[in-house]
Amino acid sequence: MVRSVPKHSFSKPIIILLAFVALLGISLTRDFRSASSSAYVSFATTWGRDKYHIISPNVSSDYPKKFENVGGNNTDRYPERALARTYADLPAPELKWEQMPSAPVPRLDGYSVQIKNLLYVFAGYANLDHVHSHVDVYSFSTNTWTESFEIPADMANSHLGVATDGRYIYIVTGQYGPQCRGPTANTFVLDTDTRKWESLPPLPAPRYAPATQLWKGRLHVMGGSKENRHTPGIDHWSLAVANGKALEKQWRREVPIPRGGPHRACVVVDDRLYVIGGQEGDFMAKPGSPIFKCSRRFEVVYGDVYMLDETMKWKGLPSMPKPDSHIECSWVVVNNSIVIVGGTTEKHPVTKRMILVGEVFQFNLNTLTWSVIGKMPYRAKTTQAGFWDGWLYFTSGQRDRGPDNPQPRKVVGDMWRTKLRLLH
Ligand SMILES: *[C@@H]1O[C@H](CO)[C@@H](O)[C@H](O)[C@H]1NC(C)=O
Ligand SMILES: *[C@@H]1O[C@H](CO)[C@@H](O)[C@H](O)[C@H]1NC(C)=O
Ligand SMILES: *[C@@H]1O[C@H](CO)[C@@H](O)[C@H](O)[C@H]1NC(C)=O
Repeated sequence: MVRSVPKHSFSKPIIILLAFVALLGISLTRDFRSASSSAYVSFATTWGRDKYHIISPNVSSDYPKKFENVGGNNTDRYPERALARTYADLPAPELKWEQMPSAPVPRLDGYSVQIKNLLYVFAGYANLDHVHSHVDVYSFSTNTWTESFEIPADMANSHLGVATDGRYIYIVTGQYGPQCRGPTANTFVLDTDTRKWESLPPLPAPRYAPATQLWKGRLHVMGGSKENRHTPGIDHWSLAVANGKALEKQWRREVPIPRGGPHRACVVVDDRLYVIGGQEGDFMAKPGSPIFKCSRRFEVVYGDVYMLDETMKWKGLPSMPKPDSHIECSWVVVNNSIVIVGGTTEKHPVTKRMILVGEVFQFNLNTLTWSVIGKMPYRAKTTQAGFWDGWLYFTSGQRDRGPDNPQPRKVVGDMWRTKLRLLH
């Protein structure tokens, strides 16, 4: 199962029927849930009925601008009772994890693409002061790291957009250099058969960690943070590509995304494009710092799910069980479900500490329902996930301080796998 080449076994009418049944079920239980004091209350607050309708982005609003005023707070977005649960670990079944060979280097904010039995892991930070400029390749069939090779000198090192057609890997924009340095709009394509890199037309404006996918013959890039690394972008561009070549000279403007920001999962399954989780706001360079030292700013993590189909209108789908960000490459598609490993959630409401996510989530696309299907060996963000021969793998990222402390600490290169068994 390669994440770029989704398979499906249901015809469209069946999916529509299942979706309708699921929505009916949700709307029937919703009132009950919000009246009870169960764990579902916090989900219900983010499951407005309007979410199932078409969402038009408020392009004329000053929405992204409010993030330029970085001292604000988010009490308007997350009422206290919803916040209370977002940071806590959710009940999750234990999984039996097996440790595999670690990556050659530790890696935070790395990006990955699986093609057949190979996981290509790109760039990332070794630590805040040092970024990688190479690709490490892991073979799921031999369970070894088989190869490393350079990325182009003018390619970004983190906050990339990545997508593949099963041979070519497209790498769009991102942050160039360590700490909280500026972005580049440079865009590249790697031919994995020849290991050759080529340039593509640069994105119209640079972005940090935009949602990126190949969909219906076009490379789509949307959201991300704008040039200051913090302000959410809602722009959406696409470029026709085939066999590693751009078929157009310029990117085309597309319908803006309802909610902007970086670090989301972007997945195409059965000709539909899904954008999952992410955040608004991010660390920024400290004004005047010669090394562009990262400093923390106001951010909101969310679990929103948006979907584009052939109508090219965004539709809202049920939100994740908790807000989740830094999951760009933390997903696989298995049996018409999207499985997501780890991430980072809303900060602790009192201590304001960052909180990592240690759950494995399943979004069943037949029923449009989320479930928590397992616990990771530790909480971690910016993991790179893969699926091969019944095994769910993840590697790298930043892990927690221990079972009782979900704050981020060590940047790791560890690789783990578990036998995946989806029950529905
Ligand atoms: C769009 O945003 C503006 C400014 O925030 C607001 O006044 C207006 O009501 C919004 N329109 C819709 C349709 O949400
Ligand atoms: C935070 O939100 C509260 C409640 O809306 C408001 O009273 C307060 O002024 C806000 N603080 C800042 C710094 O915006
Ligand atoms: C996917 O479905 C097939 C066929 O029903 C099943 O054999 C397999 O175990 C499923 N995979 C997972 C990971 O659950």
